[in-house]
Amino acid sequence: MSTAPQPTLAFIGGGNMASAIIGGLLRAGRPAASVIVVEPFEAQRAKLAAEFPGLRLLAAADTSLAEAALLVWAVKPQLFGEAAAPCAGAVAGALQLSVMAGIRSDSIVAATGSQRVVRAMPNTPALIGQGIAGLFAREAVTAADKALVEQVLAPTGQTLWVQAESDLDAVTALSGSGRPTSSTWSRP
Ligand SMILES: NC(=O)c1ccc[n+]([C@@H]2O[C@H](COP(=O)([O-])OP(=O)(O)OC[C@H]3O[C@@H](n4cnc5c(N)ncnc54)[C@H](OP(=O)(O)O)[C@@H]3O)[C@@H](O)[C@H]2O)c1
Repeated sequence: MSTAPQPTLAFIGGGNMASAIIGGLLRAGRPAASVIVVEPFEAQRAKLAAEFPGLRLLAAADTSLAEAALLVWAVKPQLFGEAAAPCAGAVAGALQLSVMAGIRSDSIVAATGSQRVVRAMPNTPALIGQGIAGLFAREAVTAADKALVEQVLAPTGQTLWVQAESDLDAVTALSGSGRPTSSTWSRP
């Protein structure tokens, strides 16, 4: 990774998927201080602090999230509404990357105020860098946004862009059971 200043990333939820991505990014040379994590549970924050010294750990969303160029949504889908509400004022200018299963990009636009939303559907091997993630970008997402998403998800394994949000379900089905062969997949 280059030594140029890295855009600040913020993870909402500091569980398994967030830890896998963060670990990969730091191993690739990203400074820990360029990563904010909102994680309400003290024991999990302590684990993250021990594993990744220098991360900026928050117990709750605050105005520092406005610094983030990219928000990564990594909470359980059923907790998305609760997690997003306190972030709303601070994140509308950022690119949003969701790894949450089943939360439509329309809902992420509504909750964050940002039209720049990418959904990723990683599979479980992503946790050990061997995954395949289908990616879908809304129209407002730029080429530079896509490049940042690819850089952030690189530690999880391969990424493949799909043209339609509904194709993410097909990716999930295929990547859960074997190698992808669908013609709906394309590289950017
Ligand atoms: N693990 C996978 O292989 C995998 C694969 C594909 C997609 N995903 C998706 O990735 C997302 C995260 O999965 P995961 O396995 O990383 O789950 P996880 O380990 O449970 O991580 C979620 C984290 O978010 C925290 N959290 C709960 N409420 C919060 C709030 N209001 N604000 C901020 N953080 C909050 C949780 O704390 P507590 O645990 O203490 O509640 C937990 O540390 C899910 O949407 C899942 O669908 C996971």
